[in-house]
Amino acid sequence: MCGIVGYIGYRKAYPIVINGLQRLEYRGYDSAGIILMNNTKANLYKTKGKVSDLKELVEKSNVEGNLAIGHTRWATHGIPNNENSHPHVSNSGNLVIVHNGIIENYNTIKKELVTRGYTFNSDTDTEVLINLIEEVKIKNNCKLGEAVQLALANVVGAYAIAVFDISKPNEIIVARLGSPIAIGIGDNNEEFFIASDASPFVEYTRDAVYLDDEELAIIKIGKEIRIRKIQDNSFVEPNIQELKLNLEQIEKGGYDHFMLKEIHEQPNAILDTYRGRLLADQGIIKMGSVDNNITKFLNANRIIIVACGTSWHAGLVAEYLFEDLARIPVEVEYASEFRYRNPIINKGDIVIAISQSGETADTLAAVKLAKSKGAFVFGVCNVVGSSIARETDTGAYTHAGPEIGVASTKAFTTQITVLALMALKLGNLKGELSNSQFQAYLQEMSLIPSKVEETLKINAIVEEIASIYKDAPNCLYLGRGYNFPVALEGALKLKEISYIHAEGYPAAEMKHGPIALIDESMPVIVIATKKGHYDKVVSNIQEIKSRKGKIIAVVTKGDTIVKGLADHIIEIPETEEAFTPLLATIPLQLLSYHIAVMRGCNVDQPRNLAKSVTVE
Ligand code: AGP
Repeated sequence: MCGIVGYIGYRKAYPIVINGLQRLEYRGYDSAGIILMNNTKANLYKTKGKVSDLKELVEKSNVEGNLAIGHTRWATHGIPNNENSHPHVSNSGNLVIVHNGIIENYNTIKKELVTRGYTFNSDTDTEVLINLIEEVKIKNNCKLGEAVQLALANVVGAYAIAVFDISKPNEIIVARLGSPIAIGIGDNNEEFFIASDASPFVEYTRDAVYLDDEELAIIKIGKEIRIRKIQDNSFVEPNIQELKLNLEQIEKGGYDHFMLKEIHEQPNAILDTYRGRLLADQGIIKMGSVDNNITKFLNANRIIIVACGTSWHAGLVAEYLFEDLARIPVEVEYASEFRYRNPIINKGDIVIAISQSGETADTLAAVKLAKSKGAFVFGVCNVVGSSIARETDTGAYTHAGPEIGVASTKAFTTQITVLALMALKLGNLKGELSNSQFQAYLQEMSLIPSKVEETLKINAIVEEIASIYKDAPNCLYLGRGYNFPVALEGALKLKEISYIHAEGYPAAEMKHGPIALIDESMPVIVIATKKGHYDKVVSNIQEIKSRKGKIIAVVTKGDTIVKGLADHIIEIPETEEAFTPLLATIPLQLLSYHIAVMRGCNVDQPRNLAKSVTVE
């Protein structure tokens, strides 16, 4: 939930770390801090607020130095204020730490340290951890790396940390359990970069090591990285990977916000996701991870999907896809409930975990639980090398490229793309889809990027609608069948970035309660596309109209019936019912975006949220 950046080498550390923190702000933006080593002098700056506030504070003074670690925080223990901001310094004033995660047994450790005379300036678990490391170091008279290792062996929780000693600023110790951390390696080991993901250092090096859980790395200029297992001190060979990410992908590219950029990236993101998999000219779908486990998939008694938030909505679309096209029973679970529910997993069940970041703590825990119960677990992740991608037995990446805006957009459509490919392939192999049906789906899927492109052209109409309803206190989203999850997703998008209360419902459920809310001030967004219970949805629209609700309808191009009923019409191209979510979700993303902008909200970093939820 927090972002960590560090640098040690021959360049000026400040610009690398501050720019890196800005790239990682999606992980949290309650407060920020940095410590800079200028020869033997340490300069520490911390502030409540965003990285830009930190920048303003630091740039009034000296920003020299070749070693720095910084942090952008999403508060867990202690309110967002200067004291609770990282880095935290030990009682001696020598050891410094930045931390992403939660130390669950910090209170017990704190009490113990207080009896030994330690004092604390903040309410954080992190300040407890750095003092525990100090205590261990003094007690064992050992080097910093060993002290960190011994201390971590005694903590319960999750962490990615970077620690160094102000009195010996020639090394940084990095460790991980449950929270991600990447180390960028410069030529001849003359410099090293540390970050929660590789985006802060992508322009400096393409060589990176992603630490695994329970690993600790000792980073020293001019020396190869040394990695050890925290529990047994055994040596681990560093697995140096080549980064595929490029700088352009993580910058705004002329758009006002990352969210808008990411909405517009969807045609390409979808294309990149099915590239090499959907071979329409050969009439096949090739997916290595499915092909290699085809017997398991074809004999699956049930698929259980675990995910959170938008990814959970993609899971709901997948429920329709797998059941409708491949006739495999599906259950979709909130990962946070699944992990604590003692779920029944039978032989022949497949668990699919969906996660953009691949770091969501609840989804990761659900994956571990499913594995411990013997399930075959398949991951659908966007971030390459992420924890869930590594923890699952196998999986398929979405290839959406980095998603920086906190509100998921292209992650959703690319997740649906992967899941649709899987369902189609299995449906065909199981004989549930005839060859001609299968071929028709393949042809239609290959048209989706251009249809998304076409859908994006309704932006001006959506902006106009946004200006009419931007002050509404509530909003209702309705859809049926494949479009029911789209309604849920539309409501989530509006809630999280504009702070307008919104609810998504299956359209037919309206009469069981929510209809009581409808009056002339209630905007109701209805997805009423031609394929997919059209007549039934038209009846639902009539019901809203008779109660004077304001109807904003997403319809198939050329629709005349709904046009005559609705207050506003948003037309999208016609497609197969199974692919409708890929198009119908676009206007809803744009609607939330424009409303949020008009309300002056921080679109890319909405309050109280973080992109990657690595705490439960
Ligand atoms: C979506 O807009 C959210 N910000 C959030 O619901 C997100 O989808 C959820 O936290 C799951 O994240 P993941 O896909 O990275 O696991």
